[in-house]
Amino acid sequence: MAQNRSHAVMAQRAEPHDSLDFFPTPPWATRALCEWLVAPELLSIHQRDAWEPACADGCMARPLAEYFRSVAASDVHDYGFGEVADFLWPTDRRADWIVTNPPFRLGQQFAETALERARHGVALLVRTAFLESADRHAALFCRRPPSDILQFVERVPMFKGRLDPKGSTATAYCWLVWRFDRERSDTRFHWLAPCRKRLERAGDYPVAE
Ligand SMILES: C[S@@+](CC[C@H](N)C(=O)[O-])C[C@H]1O[C@@H](n2cnc3c(N)ncnc32)[C@H](O)[C@@H]1O
Repeated sequence: MAQNRSHAVMAQRAEPHDSLDFFPTPPWATRALCEWLVAPELLSIHQRDAWEPACADGCMARPLAEYFRSVAASDVHDYGFGEVADFLWPTDRRADWIVTNPPFRLGQQFAETALERARHGVALLVRTAFLESADRHAALFCRRPPSDILQFVERVPMFKGRLDPKGSTATAYCWLVWRFDRERSDTRFHWLAPCRKRLERAGDYPVAE
């Protein structure tokens, strides 16, 4: 999975089409999910495999690999990381957990597809506003309510096509988690207390030239 992430190399890659919604996830936000999943009374995800089906250049797949036994990575566009595959196309591929930050405009389709293909659980990082649609409520949340919603109390800065450790954002994000051992109609809400400082690592961001 290792790759050269310098600006020069990244700039040589073909830019994905605008509609791909390429917004890389700061790695600490993925660690926040994993830390929640491995909390003592929860799950042994180090015995499970994961699939990141919209992996882009691996900003989420890499931190997932710190916690899961193995991580498969794919994306519809070739970013030089993982396999090239459209997640919404039929496949027999399955995984214990499917974890991703889906393209915003395809969030519901990603949720429905992931719920069909995961054996133990699904976690999707979404804008908190994703919770607010009557159509989505009827089509997704009423039928398959997440077991847990993890709301970041810190902002998770995400920008088109790049990670920026100094950037700020007005957009709120949360993790939607479907634990199949806990499927229930009453979704549980949790705060993700401030954790960015603790979960950021040297090497998470591209080195400035
Ligand atoms: C919001 S970005 C997230 C990237 C990565 N998951 C992360 O968190 O850093 C959405 C990604 O979805 C990919 N994508 C869009 N449509 C897709 C599809 N049908 N199948 C697989 N990947 C898709 C885009 O190429 C883009 O990399």
